Amino acid sequence: MNDNDRESLASWIRALPKAELHIHIEGSLEPELLFALARRNGMTLPYADVDAIRAAYSFSDLQSFLDIYYQGAAVLQTEQDFYDLMAAYLRRAEADGVCRAEIFFDPQTHTERGVPFDVFMPGFIRAIEDAPNVSVGLIMCFLRHLSCSAAIETFGEASDYLDNIIGVGLDSAEVGNPPEDFADVFALAEAAKLRLVAHAGEEGPPSYIWGALDSLHAERIDHGVRAEEDEALVARLVKEQIPLTMCPLSNLALRVVDDLSDHNLARLLARGAMVTINSDDPAYFGGYIGDNYLATAIALDLSRDQLTILASNSITASFATETEKVRWLETT
Ligand code: HPA
Ligand code: ZN
Repeated sequence: MNDNDRESLASWIRALPKAELHIHIEGSLEPELLFALARRNGMTLPYADVDAIRAAYSFSDLQSFLDIYYQGAAVLQTEQDFYDLMAAYLRRAEADGVCRAEIFFDPQTHTERGVPFDVFMPGFIRAIEDAPNVSVGLIMCFLRHLSCSAAIETFGEASDYLDNIIGVGLDSAEVGNPPEDFADVFALAEAAKLRLVAHAGEEGPPSYIWGALDSLHAERIDHGVRAEEDEALVARLVKEQIPLTMCPLSNLALRVVDDLSDHNLARLLARGAMVTINSDDPAYFGGYIGDNYLATAIALDLSRDQLTILASNSITASFATETEKVRWLETT
């Protein structure tokens, strides 16, 4: 594809109303902001400059990324830091034509460092109020490399902010940390009428997707790439229209796929699965949601009709109100 065709497809994608359903706010921390926050907070980084940080963003698997990602999040100290992080993401999202963003945050990454809910939640909330053009829902993720009792304690710490949180999720190191282990905390969230999602089938086997659906009552599966290995599971995902929040550039960066042209997103879409495209951790994986649509469209030769279906799937699969969904779908 030549530069002109690429730019015209990119701007057509930008104009498509779309929801982003899989974005970790800590994964939107760009090296420039990371450096600025370290300086503001009097911290020294093990990197000489922004280029050295970017050079370190070369990953072999999920864990090699998580090590760097948790280290980066340590520069987030004050309410203003969390405001700046959220405000920067929402500016990018709006520019990419995102009408709705359902944004993950990892409270335990902060509370474990002594930064409490009363610091990060007010920062997030103020930035969201200052970005009225993007409808936002916050999803609190539990770190699955920690215990279910730690997650339950975190759920308790969130009690003053449950009105500002639409749901809970499950992230971090997948293999060896099956969803069933977190059934108790998801049951508490379900009783509190929160929406439920979980990462599954990124590196973990199809049984983790079954577990997320049956033990956690997850309404969406984050990633779900490995679903294709289990015919009965694909049939269920299609029949029940369970959304998959797929993240192609993340899968490429973390070697879930060797090449974007190997990604199974188009095959699952053709089977009738409720597939969506998202960015996951855009500062680390080389692109925001528009970049993910564009790279995937080129690698898999997706038509504009297919891209329109992916965008309308994202709105349908969101937890926005029916009124909002109808309004956005009318313009899709
Ligand atoms: N997988 C699991 N945990 C994560 C990810 C991911 O892709 N990104 C941030 N935390
Ligand atoms: Zn993720």
